[in-house]
Amino acid sequence: MPEQGVELSPDRQILTADEIVYLSRLFVRQGVRKIRLTGGEPLVRKDLVNIVSEISKLEELESVAMTTNGITLGRKLPALKEAGLKILNISLDTLVEAKFEFITRRLGHKRVLENIYKALDMGFDVVKVNVVVMKNFNDDELQDFVSLTKNTNLDIRFIEFMPFDGNAWSRDKFVPYTAMLEELKQHFPSISKESDPDNSTSKAYRVEGYKGQFGFISSMSEHFCHSCNRLRITADGNLKVCLFGANEVSLRDLMRRGADERELLDVIDMAVNRKKKKHAGMDIIAATKNRPMILIGG
Ligand SMILES: C[S@@+](CC[C@H](N)C(=O)[O-])C[C@H]1O[C@@H](n2cnc3c(N)ncnc32)[C@H](O)[C@@H]1O
Repeated sequence: MPEQGVELSPDRQILTADEIVYLSRLFVRQGVRKIRLTGGEPLVRKDLVNIVSEISKLEELESVAMTTNGITLGRKLPALKEAGLKILNISLDTLVEAKFEFITRRLGHKRVLENIYKALDMGFDVVKVNVVVMKNFNDDELQDFVSLTKNTNLDIRFIEFMPFDGNAWSRDKFVPYTAMLEELKQHFPSISKESDPDNSTSKAYRVEGYKGQFGFISSMSEHFCHSCNRLRITADGNLKVCLFGANEVSLRDLMRRGADERELLDVIDMAVNRKKKKHAGMDIIAATKNRPMILIGG
């Protein structure tokens, strides 16, 4: 979230629950097998549980996942689990309360940690913690995060800091995953590589004997564009075929104009075919206009 915030969209510009379920059904029929609800912040939607429940009913869909800041997650966990949510990513960039308040500009560090453990206790299939690593902010905490995997089934995901509008990105704050791995190997000599599922965005590792695992999302230093099969739909209904590309097409406008399925699929097809072989690299991305991350979703 940029320091000055973002202009909030009027409700009518945001996809309704019915539109989200309609698009989900359309994409699942075309072969999509995993849907992730992300942000903004998914928990601000009052109809979130209903959306999860409707999407989970789509027969060929294998999993419904959600990425959240975890602040108000606790009391919604039982209903989300009941609705069919399988995979939870909770964003937490630091284990130090004061740093959390600085980077998020809000209170709630203890609550996020409690909610991570609550999700684990409740037996969600996968609970991941997303950590965006920034030099001189949290790059001294890598081993503390990995230590959390000793006795819990957590999956810690160290994400390379990516440039987006309004996030004050600079190369000085960037830590490549190889440097993170090197540092971790100094402290945990028995780190081993785990296998990565097809089209995975993360490179998984484990400390021998530890229950959980950790991984790196190396989008900047070692992109995985060649195996990226992701599509994003923004809260206001735009299809975005690359996180780092500014090209978007409005599926919301098409639906509201009464387009039939064929028309929608033609537009989606054209957009997907324009998916580039690889992104432009971090320096060019940093200099190119895109949405701030809070308006994309990660
Ligand atoms: C944009 S958030 C949206 C979902 C939700 N509001 C949250 O906080 O998790 C999705 C993910 O993107 C990650 N993210 C945000 N800005 C990023 C950046 N500049 N580089 C890499 N990851 C980033 C966040 O840490 C989070 O895990």
